[in-house]
Formats: sequence, structure tokens, C-alpha cells
Amino acid sequence: MAKQFDVVVIGAGPGGYIAAIRAAQLGMSVACIDAWSTSDGKPAPGGTCTNVGCIPSKALLQSSEHYEQAGSHFAEHGIEVKGLGLKLDTLIGRKDTVVTQNNDGILYLFKKNKVTFFHGKGSFVAQVDGGWSIKVSGTSDEDLVAKHVVVATGSAPRELPGLPFDEKKILSNDGALRLTAVPKKMGVIGAGVIGLELGSVWRRLGAEVTILEAMPDFLPVADQQVAKEALKAFTKQGLNIQTGVKIGEVKTTSKAVTVPYTDASGAEQSMAVDSLIVSIGRVPHTDGLGVETVGLKLDERGFIVVDDDCRTNLNNVWAVGDVVRGPMLAHKAEEEGVAVAESIAGQHGHVNYAVIPNVLYTSPEIAWVGRNEQQLKTEGVAYKAGSFPFMANGRARALGDTTGFVKVLADAKTDEVLGVHIVGPMASELISEAVTIMEFRGAAEDIARICHAHPTLSEAMKEAALAVDKRTLNF
Ligand code: FAD
Ligand code: NAI
Repeated sequence: MAKQFDVVVIGAGPGGYIAAIRAAQLGMSVACIDAWSTSDGKPAPGGTCTNVGCIPSKALLQSSEHYEQAGSHFAEHGIEVKGLGLKLDTLIGRKDTVVTQNNDGILYLFKKNKVTFFHGKGSFVAQVDGGWSIKVSGTSDEDLVAKHVVVATGSAPRELPGLPFDEKKILSNDGALRLTAVPKKMGVIGAGVIGLELGSVWRRLGAEVTILEAMPDFLPVADQQVAKEALKAFTKQGLNIQTGVKIGEVKTTSKAVTVPYTDASGAEQSMAVDSLIVSIGRVPHTDGLGVETVGLKLDERGFIVVDDDCRTNLNNVWAVGDVVRGPMLAHKAEEEGVAVAESIAGQHGHVNYAVIPNVLYTSPEIAWVGRNEQQLKTEGVAYKAGSFPFMANGRARALGDTTGFVKVLADAKTDEVLGVHIVGPMASELISEAVTIMEFRGAAEDIARICHAHPTLSEAMKEAALAVDKRTLNF
């Protein structure tokens, strides 16, 4: 006899597990199915984000940052470190513990909110009386019937054609987060978010890292002034970043990986490395879901087609997160999960796609929300810009981290904030203020008139807002 639920969520990444919890909070009977397992076969909910994405990458970024600080920056504080060493197995083990804590946290939240969890693969069987028949196969072997289905099956790393991941020498994000030795030379294809974050981790731990990027500009998605400042800082740290390259046929032997490429000037080059991270974007994941069985519509790139409210072409079937259009970000997936649960409950679920923050957890950090100067120029929007350097911020000087600036872009007539772009210390935390202001459609003057604690990095945000009106107080 099939078990009946109001909502069955397939996938327990940030899109799926949050949708399940919100639907349960709203009084519905909810099941969540997830296939991810630990190496010993236990359930590991949390998806890419928890297992091989946001959480483990930030754990390694933190550890490697400490190592670099101890090796290169403690001395200027008068702290002498003798015999500094690296225990990579401890560092990776700590990261694994952080991941497990998050897996367990989600299982606890499911219990607390009375979400029934099934460990296994979920697939559509058919439309039946009262909803959709869903099969679970794996540790759990069950037949379910759901009035509503939320698909949150996420994404997978894109391979370079003809170069499958072996996770030993040719690494996706997964292998790059669990190397057992620091490579002497590491190559990275793609200077996007993963390339820069994981390239930074292994550089800090001692690898010589070269990043090859196809696009002529560095970080074209970021404000170009921010990108320029970041490139300067990364290059100074020793990351070798080459843009405008064309990758040839990569050859792998037991000893090395050889990457032939044409550089931006058109010259033929070759790079020999011990291991190669391929981080050239991700593809939506719908394998084994039974898409064809029920006629769930995908677009030409494999994303599930949804409307603005995450409805698919099938009645009462919804899809959220990386498997649908929009930025592949955990917080975007979560917002969609909440909105869908609320829409199912008859409320007005909504995601404001114009105000989703982007963050790169490099050093310096990069964060932005809204439109950048290139976009405003292309769209012909009249705007005012105000910037403030961390060099002139007291807290940044005390921290010893004065790279970068905050830039506020505001409508020339109304002063409404159109975008905020930060490169510098704790940009990931500072951006929240800009997100809040933009959600309330606030003006640069609103930020400028808010009392900011002293001495804080957030004063740079206030000063950048004052700079929009050419009246900084500390610069
Ligand atoms: P996923 O997290 O991919 O989860 C999908 C889940 O569904 C998985 O557990 C999968 O096993 C399961 N599944 C798939 N098919 C089935 C099936 N048929 N049956 C049962 N289960 C199934 N984003 C940020 O916002 N901030 C960051 O700092 C950040 N860092 C990242 C670092 C790296 C290295 C990577 C790779 C990504 C990072 N991301 C980050 C992106 C973020 O991880 C994704 O945007 C997010 O995980 C998407 O959530 P999701 O729920 O859509 O899918
Ligand atoms: P990405 O889209 O950020 O970057 C991929 C880069 O590879 C681009 O710059 C692209 O031009 C380049 N590229 C593509 N094909 C190439 C080729 N053949 N040769 C050379 N360069 C090539 O994708 P990435 O870094 O793989 O990350 C995937 C997703 O994960 C991103 O969409 C991102 O949203 C998410 N993510 C988010 C993080 C965060 O929020 N801090 C951290 C890591 C990942």
C-alpha cells in the first residue's frame, strides 16, 4: 500500500530540505527523498552544498587562510611562529566533521518538523488518482503518492569533452575537496567561482596554481572595477591567472597532466601539472528521475522548465534550485523552496530575483547585489557612483586588511540604490546591509543616514553611500 503525503520533495539539498521544512511548518504531511550517502552508506542530506560545495569549501578556505596568516602575516603583529607545519589529514578531517555536523543537523530538523525522510533515489512512476506515484529505491524501498511534488535534484559538474573526472588527477569540486597531498603544481580550467575559491585553498597550502580561463575578461559577471582590483590582489598572492585561452586536448599519464592551450596572443603553450581542477560550470541533474515517463518538460540545456513561481508543465509538480533557471546558489534554491511551499499552501510565495547577493569567499572577498556599472551603461540607466576604500577605514587598518573598496550605484534622479559592489575584508557579511536596503527600495541617502557602529568595516558602506553625493567624511 503506497504511503500518502501532501508533498513529496525529491532531493534534500538547500532547495529541497528547506521546501520540506517550510511545507511541514504550514501543516502539510511531507516526505523528502535523498540519495546522497556517506562513504559507509549512511544518509548524507544537504546535497551538493553540504557535501561537496558551500560548506566543505568554506571549511578549507578558513583552514588555509589560518595557515597563510600564521606563515605570512602573524609576524607583523609581533607574533613569532616557529616550526609551522601542515597536517593535511587533520585539515581535511576537520572539514569532514563540519560536513557531518551539517548532515546530522538536517536529519534533526526533519525529525523536529515531522518530515518523513527516505534514503534512496526518487522517481516518477505515473499520475494517479490523488496525485503522483513516486518510487523510492535504495536504503528505503517504498511507493509513495503525493498531491504535490517538488523536484530539487540539483546539478553536477560539467566535464571538458573527452576528459572524464577520475577525482585523482582530473578533479571536479568533489575530488578537489579531498586531496591527500598538496600537489606541487596544480592547474585549474575556468576562473569562475570554484576555480578561484579552490585555487586559493591549494595555493595557500603550498601548490603552484595556474588558472586558465576562456573568456577575454577576468570575472565578466562582476563589476569590472571590482574584478580589476581582485585580479591585482590574486596575482600578487601568486595565483597565475591567464584569460582568453583556448584549451587543446588534455593528456593524462600516471605522472602528470599536460594541458596544451593557445594563449590570448595566439601563441601555443603547454602546462604540465600534478592535478587539474576542471571548474567550467555545472549542469542540471535529472538522471533517473523518470522525466520521460511523465513528460516533465526540460529546456535544450536540460533545465526543468518552470514559470516565475517554479511551476513545471505538470499539474502540481514544482521544481526549485540548480535544476531550474537562474543563478546556481544555495540561497536562491532556499528562497525558491520557501516560496513553493507557501504557494502550495495557498499563500503568495515570491522570490525577488533582482536582489540575490553573489559572494566569492576568496581573499579579498568579493560580493555584490543588483546591477553593475557595465549593465547600467548598456541599459542606458542614468546613475551616480560612490566609492570608499578600506584603506581609509579604521577597522580595516586595525585588522591589517585594507585591500579593496565598497561601491554604491544609485539612480541619478531618485537616489534609489541599484547595485552595491564590494571587494575587501568580510564583503560576504557586509553585503547584507545592501540587500536589505535594496529589498526596501531604499536610497543611498538612507544608508548614509543610518548610524553605523565605530570602528567597523560597515562604516565603509556608509561612506560609499555618502560618496554618491560627494560628501565622504573620512576620505
Ligand atoms: P543540490 O544541493 O545539488 O541537492 C540536490 C540533492 O538531490 C542531492 O543531495 C542529490 O543527491 C539529490 N538527488 C538528485 N536526484 C535525486 C533523485 N532522483 N532522488 C533522490 N535524490 C536525488 N552556493 C552558494 O550560495 N554559496 C556558496 O558558497 C557555494 N559554494 C559552492 C562551492 C562548490 C564547490 C560548489 C560545487 C557549489 C557551491 N555553491 C554555493 C552552489 C550550491 O552548492 C548550489 O547552488 C546548491 O547546492 C543548489 O541546491 P539544490 O538544492 O538545488 O541542489
Ligand atoms: P562558473 O560559471 O562560476 O565559472 C566557470 C568558468 O569557466 C567561467 O569563467 C567560464 O568562462 C570558464 N570556462 C567555461 N568553459 C571553459 C573552457 N572550455 N576553457 C576555459 N574556461 C572555461 O562555474 P564554476 O566555478 O564551475 O561553479 C559552478 C557554480 O557553482 C557557479 O554557477 C556558482 O554559482 C556555484 N558556486 C558558488 C559559489 C559561491 O557562491 N561562493 C562557490 C562555488 C560555486
